[in-house]
Amino acid sequence: MRIEQVSLGERSYPVVVGRGARAEIDALLPREARRVAVVTDAGVPRTLLPELGDRSVTVHVIEPGESAKTLSAIESLCGQFSSAGLTRIDTVVGVGGGLVTDVAGFAASVYHRGIAVAHVATTLLAMVDAAIGGKTGVNLPDGKNLIGAYWQPCAVACDLDALDSLPARETRCGNGEMAKYHFIAREDLSALALDERIARCVRIKADIVAADEREGGSRALLNYGHTFGHALEAESGWVLAHGEAVALGLLFAAHLAHRTGRIGAERVEDHYGVVHGLYDLRPPLPTGLAIDALIASMARDKKALGSLTFVLDSDRGLEVVRGVSETDVHAAWADFTARNA
Ligand code: GLY
Repeated sequence: MRIEQVSLGERSYPVVVGRGARAEIDALLPREARRVAVVTDAGVPRTLLPELGDRSVTVHVIEPGESAKTLSAIESLCGQFSSAGLTRIDTVVGVGGGLVTDVAGFAASVYHRGIAVAHVATTLLAMVDAAIGGKTGVNLPDGKNLIGAYWQPCAVACDLDALDSLPARETRCGNGEMAKYHFIAREDLSALALDERIARCVRIKADIVAADEREGGSRALLNYGHTFGHALEAESGWVLAHGEAVALGLLFAAHLAHRTGRIGAERVEDHYGVVHGLYDLRPPLPTGLAIDALIASMARDKKALGSLTFVLDSDRGLEVVRGVSETDVHAAWADFTARNA
C-alpha cells in the first residue's frame, strides 16, 4: 500500500493507494462516528463498499450521470441522512467516481453545517483528481460545478481492485487527467507502473493543494485543459465524459498558446504526441458546436473573473492567463477544428 499525505495542518489526511485500500477506511474515520452514510451509485459493484466494523451503516444510491448532479440531489441526500439519524459526529463515505465524491462531499459539507466525509475512489479519474483536494459541488444548467464548497475529506482510499472492472471509457477519462499532470509536472508518467502513476498524480495534486487550498494562485494550474473542457461538456449536452473533454481541452489550450505567441508549433505537436500517443486519447469532437456559445460558456467559468481566462503553456511552464481576446480564441478554434473535426 502506498500512502500519500495531503498536508493541511489539522485537516491533513492520508490517501491510501493500492489493491484492497478500501479496507483501510474504517480505521481512518473519526472514532466517535457511530453512523455512516455510504453514498454510491448503481454502477459501483457492491463488493467495493468498505467494511465499517460495528458502526451502523446505511447505503444511499444516487443517480448516475452529470445531469443528476443537482442541488435537488443534495436536498434528497441530506433528507436521507436525517432519516438515518446522522448527527454532527457521524460520517459520510463516498464510494464511486468523481460524480459520487463531488455530491457526497458537498452533502457532507452542508448537512448539520458540515460533517466528516471520506472517499473510496473507484475510477481512475477520481483516484488521480476528483476525490483529492476537497472540491465538492453540483452543476447548474449554466455550467459545471457552479455551486459547491471546499470540504476536505478525512481520508481517501484509491482501491485498485475497482479498476479491474472499470469500463474502457472510464479508463480513458482517468488518462485525460493523467495527461494534464504530465504537462503540469513535465514528467513522463506513462512510463510508471499503474499504482506508482496513481500515487505520483496524488503527490503532485497534494503538493499543489497544500500550497493553495482555495485556488488563490497555483491550484488553478490543475485546471489545465478544463476551461475549454468544461464548456465542451456543457455545450455538447454532456455527451462527452469529463476526461474526454479535458483531453480535447489540452489540445485546444496548445493551439491557443500558439496563437497568443506563447509556444512554438513544435510544442503544439508535443501536446498531440502526449494526448494521442502516450495516453491514447482521441475522443471525437461532438458535431454542431458553435464557438460563440463555447466562448459564452467559458466566460461563465469560475476562473474567468470578468475576462476569458485560461491556463496556457509557455517556456516557463503553465501559467494562468487572463484577458485572452475572443479573436485569439476564434483563431485557435479554427486551428483546433482543422485537426480535430
Ligand atoms: N480538479 C481541480 C482541482 O481539484 O483543483
